[in-house]
Amino acid sequence: SIKMVERSYQRYREIISTLPQEKGWIAENLRLYEGFWYQPMHGLAGAMFAQEHFQARPDDVLLISTPKSGTTWLKAIIFAIMKRTCYTSCTHPLLTTNPHDCVPSFESVLFGKPPVADVDNLPSLRIFATHTPYSSLSKPILDSGCKIVYVCRDPKDVLISMWYFLAKMRSKELPPLSLEEAFDLFSRGIVGFGPFWDHVQGYWKASLECPERIFFITYEEMKRGTFLKVKRLAEFLGQPFSMEEERERVVEEIIELCSFGKLRNLEVNKNVPRNIPHLKNDAFFRKGEVGDWRNYLTPQMVERLDQITNEKLPGLF
Ligand code: A3P
Repeated sequence: SIKMVERSYQRYREIISTLPQEKGWIAENLRLYEGFWYQPMHGLAGAMFAQEHFQARPDDVLLISTPKSGTTWLKAIIFAIMKRTCYTSCTHPLLTTNPHDCVPSFESVLFGKPPVADVDNLPSLRIFATHTPYSSLSKPILDSGCKIVYVCRDPKDVLISMWYFLAKMRSKELPPLSLEEAFDLFSRGIVGFGPFWDHVQGYWKASLECPERIFFITYEEMKRGTFLKVKRLAEFLGQPFSMEEERERVVEEIIELCSFGKLRNLEVNKNVPRNIPHLKNDAFFRKGEVGDWRNYLTPQMVERLDQITNEKLPGLF
């Protein structure tokens, strides 16, 4: 009920106000909760609500990511794989709906006020997204046996992507955040759902222990071997492509529908405002390339980021 939600959020506000804080990228300070940094009202209250109230089902699919790592792309691909028998190529929801509205996320949407969906009454197979770190996943999620797809990306590209993205959302009363400051915060782990490296480490380890539950992939691998990865993903999701589908080029169609060029040029993904201040759908489609960091980072910055990556995630990117 609304009352219960109100009371919960009141309680979260009280807890949040006692948590350690650091300078944020947008306006509000970030808060440290269970070892990770959150935007208090955008991210943390929703995450706390989900931790307490989300009833996972064994046939749920969770897309989990570090922000700016290909969430939008993977949302589209998973949605297109799982709903491929429901739509023809001209009535497909992805042509008229932003991927973030096809696959809603826990933190800001599902348990937002007011919630946009009655989560418990959604029909199976549900697909949700979240940035929740592995160590903060609730017991019902871990016990449900639901499938988890995890995507991450070279932190050098994540930093640049994040810097551009959050600049749009940053309070206009503040001076722009310089790349030097952004680098400093990011490399110290102070960024939404950071430290980046701890986030990835949690899911990497878990996926090695339990590959049938967690499909771990990087943005770079998706780019390099899209066709094979989309097929693997469909198998993992329990919906492998049949020989007939392959002959009919269903895999290629899905890849094309979800491609950066295709999605970015749809009307719905252009100037359409979201329910977050200053944010329009086009903010999710910037360049869509691997290695854009080369145009921005100094050799010192690169060295520092690579050093942390080699230490915490050796051989991953
Ligand atoms: P860049 O800022 O480097 O261009 P997220 O979806 O997790 O917020 O990540 C955003 C990044 O994914 C952005 O990277 C964005 O351009 C890129 N992206 C969005 N849609 C994509 C797609 N369909 N294919 C490849 N990359 C995509």
